[in-house]
Amino acid sequence: MQGKYTFSIIKPDAVRANHIGSILVMIEKAGFSITAMSMLQLTQIVAAHFYAVHADRPFYKDLCSFIASGPIVAMVLEKDNAVVDLRKLMGATNPTEAAEGTIRKAFATSIDYNAIHGSDSDQTAASEISFFFPSRKLLVKQPAII
Ligand code: CMP
Repeated sequence: MQGKYTFSIIKPDAVRANHIGSILVMIEKAGFSITAMSMLQLTQIVAAHFYAVHADRPFYKDLCSFIASGPIVAMVLEKDNAVVDLRKLMGATNPTEAAEGTIRKAFATSIDYNAIHGSDSDQTAASEISFFFPSRKLLVKQPAII
């Protein structure tokens, strides 16, 4: 069975453009419950660690600079089939390929400035959740061990 939790970030482009509220409405309307949320700005070092899986990609340096360029909203979202359903709601990574009704179709301006991040698997969700929300800060049961 697919997991009940995923991790998401409203990225600095969407925060700067005042789209936090609109994105949260889309997330809640799609049936997700927000079980943890934090507004913060990443340092370059934390950004490099968070995106380490992309370290060999040509866009890695710009990606780290961008995600650390301003405040973000980090969230734990709960729903049956959370990882897959959030990725459907986000739409394609490149907004020119994103379907109508998706968050990236509405708010992303390029493949780099694409408004939202969502975990790509249950395993990634568990590690991203525990990275951003150590158990002492989490108001729900530790998703990593559910
Ligand atoms: P995200 O889901 O946060 O994960 C990695 C990010 O790299 C991705 O969203 C994109 O914003 C960014 N990115 C830039 N270029 C590419 C690319 N060619 N393929 C995939 N991701 C890319």
